[in-house]
Amino acid sequence: MDEQSAKRRIEELREEIARHDRYYRIDNSPKISDDDFDLLVRELRSLESEFPRFRVPDSPTERVGSDSSEGFKSVGHLSPMLSLDNVFDTSELEDFDSRLRKILGKEGDLDYCVEPKIDGAGISAVYENGKLSRLLTRGDGESGDDITCNAFVIKNLPLKLSGNSFPKLLEIRGECYMERGEFERIREEARREYEARELSKARERDFFSDSSPAVDFSEIERKLPSNPRNLAAGTMKLLDRSVLEKRSLKAIFYSIGASEGFVFERQSDLPGILEGLGLPAVNWFGTAKGSKGAFEKICELEEVRSEFPFDTDGAVVKLDDCSLHAKAGMTSHSPRWAVAWKYRAKRAKTKLLSITIQVGRTGAVTPVAELEPIRLSGTMVARATLHNAGYISEKDIRVGDEVVVEKAGEIIPAVIEPVAESRGPESVPFEFPTHCPECGTLLKRYGEKMLYRCPNAECPPQIVERLSHFASRDCMDIRGLGDKTVGQLVEHLGVRDFADIYSLTREKILSLKEFEKKSADNLVKSIEDSKNRELWRLIFGLGILEIGERFAKILAKRFGSLDALMGASAEEISAIDGFGGASKNSSSVRALSIRAFFDDPHNAETIEKLRKAGLNFKDSSETLFNPSVQKSPFFGKSFAITGTLESMGRSRAKTLIENFGGRISSSVTKGTDALIAAKGSNGSKMRNAQEFGTRIISEGEFLEMLESSEKLAGGIEGESEQMTLF
Ligand code: IVH
Repeated sequence: MDEQSAKRRIEELREEIARHDRYYRIDNSPKISDDDFDLLVRELRSLESEFPRFRVPDSPTERVGSDSSEGFKSVGHLSPMLSLDNVFDTSELEDFDSRLRKILGKEGDLDYCVEPKIDGAGISAVYENGKLSRLLTRGDGESGDDITCNAFVIKNLPLKLSGNSFPKLLEIRGECYMERGEFERIREEARREYEARELSKARERDFFSDSSPAVDFSEIERKLPSNPRNLAAGTMKLLDRSVLEKRSLKAIFYSIGASEGFVFERQSDLPGILEGLGLPAVNWFGTAKGSKGAFEKICELEEVRSEFPFDTDGAVVKLDDCSLHAKAGMTSHSPRWAVAWKYRAKRAKTKLLSITIQVGRTGAVTPVAELEPIRLSGTMVARATLHNAGYISEKDIRVGDEVVVEKAGEIIPAVIEPVAESRGPESVPFEFPTHCPECGTLLKRYGEKMLYRCPNAECPPQIVERLSHFASRDCMDIRGLGDKTVGQLVEHLGVRDFADIYSLTREKILSLKEFEKKSADNLVKSIEDSKNRELWRLIFGLGILEIGERFAKILAKRFGSLDALMGASAEEISAIDGFGGASKNSSSVRALSIRAFFDDPHNAETIEKLRKAGLNFKDSSETLFNPSVQKSPFFGKSFAITGTLESMGRSRAKTLIENFGGRISSSVTKGTDALIAAKGSNGSKMRNAQEFGTRIISEGEFLEMLESSEKLAGGIEGESEQMTLF
């Protein structure tokens, strides 16, 4: 290729790669396959090495390479991201104000803008001609990680500015945060996963003991994301797209970095201007005169900040007139025209009226303080956590005590300590209940921290938990059957297991207070629709310990039907890739957990009811759904092979059997349908087959079965080539 055409092709490729990179990373909608994309990059790379004089530092070959291999690339901010100095009381605020007046040579009150200090993770977005071109984390203030590829997770971040006239360049600063509801959802999901994992680990450990498995739930608590800020920061930098797709973040902007063609005169004008461009901006701000006025706004903000969807850890006081900012100047890391007022954790004393015991949906039992209502950081507090039984006894917290209650940031209020002096002579230490307040079962104690748990799987909160999981978007996706409705079904309509959902009628649903005709009809319809969901959703929805979405998908594909999975032995399940046991001869925790689930007579009964209700029990993935393949003698059956086949290798035989919807197991068990035996075989598989009365198929018969399956599949368009391979 001559230089001229190489140059043209290089430019073409760069443009094309950048375009597809955008489709993939920003629009979240790739238009070509990963392989085709790699081919373009490879072609560009080879041309660049052949014609080094056309190399440029910002070629996509540089960026693509570093993104995929080393996580995120560090990129310089156009202007540094500054920090803020903190003030903690009015005298420090007055010092800030008088220093500023002195620098500016102003006698009278300065105008300030007071806005919330958002407790998120700092971000900087660059818009060029109205289009999002880059999204960076704060990093060290000079440069941050390029997280443009994750921009789609920030749901209110526009890829294009709205309106018809945009600044040529806009580098905009703000925070990325996670709404509290989303934080709770992810935290709960993580808790469930950890608990299931720990429980089944403990079950395996204590397999032969009668006592309940010992799980340290406080250990799990420590592993969970502790606050929305950390989870938002962690999410922004996730590389696993499948996790990212399930999360949602928000952004909010409050200041400008570098810009061209963008002017604003007052800080208090900025939110309106940003909103005009379609950018999320601080939705609460107040203007004030002098430090006294600023302090009043700080107090006003403190009263309302708990109503914001994001956490706030303070207020930011900014000089409103932007034309004075340059004159005010800056210290080494922060501007002199702005300061952060930090809110302190608020404490107050009130009376502890009683202690109630809450049973969580995993059976975890938590003591809750019922308080004489008191105002704290703008909200009325009537309940506070007492953590666990150990906490109550360690601090000797007693009903009737005056107690110190704290609300730090946006965290749930907690009882800190009792005011022991206020105690009367009649006061007695608190005795933790021995039985579950929901179902009366004797509570079990775990770990040193005295954590209690209700061991009864039929305890109503645990039923609600199981049903909510089953109905959730990730499982059977029954629209309109959220946690609250499930709670009502359990409480008022006696719904106990998954199958009960399918016997609900419009009339029964209408008897619930919150339902009207239309919403009841909608729920009936979505319950009906859910009967046809993919098999993996049902397997995942059953809530088998250790079987999350990924494993449910593998099982559905592998076994093709719920019946085949139910009939599979622990050994057969352990033989699946990823399900393996600790050693060759042991069954894996997952396999044991699956068996334990289906062997439980109550579960078996529920599954029969689900079958009668008409739920789909078959996998609908392409090959298996094909009606011709379903007629194959291999379909849904389990086979073992022994000896050396003359016509093909074992892995080829396995592939062919699987293509026709059959399964291969490594040994002959009661669940094996047939043993394919090469000539002269007489090993342990043969002996087991004879013992269990398993059908023994010769190689000749096997070939005939393959031939007939192939003929059946012959009419399948596009599949015939694959079916006639051998
Ligand atoms: S203004 C040059 N406004 O707090 C002015 N910052 O502790 C720079 N922050 O680095 C910041 N809410 O990441 C500003 N309303 C707000 C803010 C805010 C949160 C963050 C920001 C800053 C940090 C300083």
